[in-house]
Amino acid sequence: MPDEHGAERASAHSDCVRLCRLDDLERRRIVRAEVNGREMVVVASPRGIRVLRGLCPHQGALLGLGVLCGHSAAGDIGEYRYERVGEIVRCPWHGWEFDSETGRSLHDPERIRVATYPSHTCGGHVCLGAPAAATGAAGVGQPEDQ
Ligand code: FES
Repeated sequence: MPDEHGAERASAHSDCVRLCRLDDLERRRIVRAEVNGREMVVVASPRGIRVLRGLCPHQGALLGLGVLCGHSAAGDIGEYRYERVGEIVRCPWHGWEFDSETGRSLHDPERIRVATYPSHTCGGHVCLGAPAAATGAAGVGQPEDQ
């Protein structure tokens, strides 16, 4: 049930703000979410569940409509390695790519990034914020934010 700000609150823990259902995330790997009018994107990376700001800093596309992919890195001459499979969020409009661990752009990591948020799982949902120690919820995500 959405609260007065439109945020979903989990019934199992009243402080939890739901982002998406775990089964949706398992099926799609990248899911849009909105909290208090703020666009977010939730991804199921091989490193765990990650939550990032959902608007691309280039021209504002919804990153939750993008794809979760890997990154082509150069090796020896004529050799490319496809690595970090499932860890990179690619914008649906012009293909800017963001590291789901740090939110940083792969192209210009020092200047361009999207915020990252801590999350946890609770009652079959991915919820925003670090888990409360007393809940026993599984902790995922990272506390970095801008
Ligand atoms: S809007 Fe995301 S790359 Fe252009």
